[in-house]
Amino acid sequence: MRLFRWADSNISILANIMPIFFMALLMGTRSSVFARQAAEKTSSVSYHNNIWPILQARCQGCHQPASAGGKLIVTAYTSFLKGGEHGASFFAGKPDKSPLMAYLTGTKTLMPKGGPPLADRDITLFRRWIQEGAKDDTVVTKDPIDAEHPPIYRAAPLISALAYSPDGSQLAVSGYREILIHHADGNGLITRLVGRSPKILSIAYSLDGKLLAAVGGSPALFGEAQFWDPISGKLINSVEATYDTLFGGSLSPDASELAFGCADNSVRVISVPDGKQILKFDNHSDWVFATTFAIDGKHILSAGRDQAIKLILIEGASFIDDINTHTSPERCLVRNPTKDQVLCGGDDGIPRLYKVFRTAVRTMNQEDHNLLKIYEPQVGAITAEAFSKDGKMVAIGSESGIVNVYTVDGGRVASLYGQRGVIYALAFQPDGKRVAAGGFDGRVRLYDLPGGKLAASFVPVPLIQPAVRQVSTSK
Ligand code: HEC
Repeated sequence: MRLFRWADSNISILANIMPIFFMALLMGTRSSVFARQAAEKTSSVSYHNNIWPILQARCQGCHQPASAGGKLIVTAYTSFLKGGEHGASFFAGKPDKSPLMAYLTGTKTLMPKGGPPLADRDITLFRRWIQEGAKDDTVVTKDPIDAEHPPIYRAAPLISALAYSPDGSQLAVSGYREILIHHADGNGLITRLVGRSPKILSIAYSLDGKLLAAVGGSPALFGEAQFWDPISGKLINSVEATYDTLFGGSLSPDASELAFGCADNSVRVISVPDGKQILKFDNHSDWVFATTFAIDGKHILSAGRDQAIKLILIEGASFIDDINTHTSPERCLVRNPTKDQVLCGGDDGIPRLYKVFRTAVRTMNQEDHNLLKIYEPQVGAITAEAFSKDGKMVAIGSESGIVNVYTVDGGRVASLYGQRGVIYALAFQPDGKRVAAGGFDGRVRLYDLPGGKLAASFVPVPLIQPAVRQVSTSK
């Protein structure tokens, strides 16, 4: 999950600079300077094609809701127009009266702040765009994918999230831009929940089965929490947060709140389903991959790349404790459904079980006071974990593609084989008789417990048949 993310965000950064690069290339290939000047005089500057890509590549990092330098936000035309703490930064038709030009040329604090100035050609584009009326020509194209036009697959996408409905009848599986609800025995698709996020990184049902919450998004673009009615298949609400995918969504026991981790190092809690932010916690120093509520619903725990498992009291956003001794970047954190204890796992491949609330006084000598149990080391980093509903078993998946199931005391129940590549998602059937696993190879595999026998295996998305390749027999 984390490995392909980087590749993706690089692609989207590339996509952002590509238009500029392309323009430069096109202009450079014009045969004569006169032709270029003529083109520059006749065609007007487009906000959508010329200005927005520059704002996105050079300004958005510091001028977005999460970090608005000078209170200026350039992620949407309307907020860019409104301006920052000194008011409007540009006036249509009047580049010389527009402070923006003074910032870009360095008469005022040079923008981009601390970086190299924009190329003269780009500054000219801003000047001409303002001169020509500073119009918003953003084209809103209709999304080709929706419930009536669900995604079409030529290959199975990797599986990043799995969840059983509380009654055990359904299995929700992440797809591309959708969540697919299957019969739990693998005997077919019930419904498809088509949404906006290309990636769904976690799925959680409320205990009464009436709500399904998912988090995901698109790397370097947006994060999204989705609330669905899994019975009617209707989207109740979609809530955006941050400019990157969201991780590790978890519902409070009464399903009134959703917690998730973010790539801006924050942990957030929003109310369900209106999405109002209840908590933003900034005490982590790296990406937060997992969250879980304590049994009281008042505390949450979060874990991430900074190796810390933090205990937070939601009311007042109070940091209570780092419950672990930092050992390695954490990727997973799941709570025992019956007790305040959490299983974590990450890069060092060693699963550790901690109690949530400290009972011994903290000392200075780095003792791991809350540690209850260390399980067998796994092969490679731990990439997925699950607790059985009765709190008696845990399933642990790793980069190796092997899933190990243990009793909570550490006795190995079964090793589940067959997955090719990293395991990203695990779920226990509520009756504890099966484990579902998914990951890099795009197949859901259902294993019977306690034996660990593979009971069923299926690709959760409908695949279109590849065109039959014509094989020529002539020499
Ligand atoms: C590295 C961070 C950074 C980048 C990148 C950046 N800015 Fe800024 N900008 C700031 C900060 C911080 C301020 C607040 C004033 C200050 O600190 O000088 C600011 C202030 C401004 C203001 C004045 C807002 C007001 O009303 O006070 C404008 C206009 C502006 N920036 C435009 C831009 C544009 C256009 C770009 C891209 C070409 C850009 N900035 C890139 C950090 C940045």
